Amino acid sequence: MRFCRQFLFAAAAWLVTNTAVAVDLEKGKEINGTCAACHGDQGAGGKKGEYPRLAGQRAAYLERQLKSFRARTRINIPMFPYTQERELSDEDIKDVSAYLAGIELSNRMPTYTGKEDALTRLLMAEKVMIIPRAEGDLANGEAIYQKKCAACHGKSGKGRGMFPVLVGQYTSYLKRQADLYLKGDRPHDEEGVVGVLNTLKEQDIQDILAYLTSIQEPSE
Ligand code: HEC
Ligand code: HEC
Repeated sequence: MRFCRQFLFAAAAWLVTNTAVAVDLEKGKEINGTCAACHGDQGAGGKKGEYPRLAGQRAAYLERQLKSFRARTRINIPMFPYTQERELSDEDIKDVSAYLAGIELSNRMPTYTGKEDALTRLLMAEKVMIIPRAEGDLANGEAIYQKKCAACHGKSGKGRGMFPVLVGQYTSYLKRQADLYLKGDRPHDEEGVVGVLNTLKEQDIQDILAYLTSIQEPSE
């Protein structure tokens, strides 16, 4: 009987702790105030890809990257101070990641009626993010992407679970990451030393990046 009661207490305590861990989007938005200086209010990134887009990225992936920055398994000098435990706890990481993952940016030009005022037009434009087309052989890019990347990053580049969205991300940012992977400075999918990117020619990577910019707006 006594044991039973202790067990119930323990179970209740567990519930309280774990309920408190539920994501708090308001808190996430507040934390994003710090991130906005570089990644923008809407998480659209900036300076042509120096700061990656975070809006609409997979929450599980965002969390993992923030933890990697904190642990320095992925080196990010500008961000390192912001990811230290006193700045960003595990709970904060969950909240800000969920908040960013939930920001939807459109991949279509806004259709103005001509009746909006300047501020409304500005707000409409802020919700749109279209990556300029990159040059490359689209057919080759598509063939390689669908054969070697889609299993993890999704057929339409939207990622899934811990696998990041690639479509709608800055081309220059993706290219920089591909270079880091190739040099072995950032681990990709590999269990040994050689990952899938190392099996490609440089032009193939460019073609894949071009293909990704061509499938932003799904054809109807
Ligand atoms: C001082 C500028 C700066 C601030 C502030 C900043 N970041 Fe970053 N962040 C960067 C840079 C630069 C990169 C790209 C690093 C690279 O090229 O590998 C980056 C990359 C990231 C990535 C990896 C994206 C990906 O696709 O892999 C995540 C996630 C991220 N930042 C989240 C955040 C969050 C959340 C905050 C706020 C708590 C934040 N950042 C604040 C500069 C900043
Ligand atoms: C076996 C699964 C898998 C396959 C196949 C795969 N990837 Fe990835 N990719 C990942 C994972 C996991 C990450 C995140 C790694 C990390 O945590 O840093 C990633 C990250 C990336 C990133 C960085 C995204 C960012 O926001 O920083 C790029 C670029 C990328 N992959 C390109 C490719 C390309 C191009 C291919 C096909 C040639 C490919 N990947 C195939 C698993 C995969």
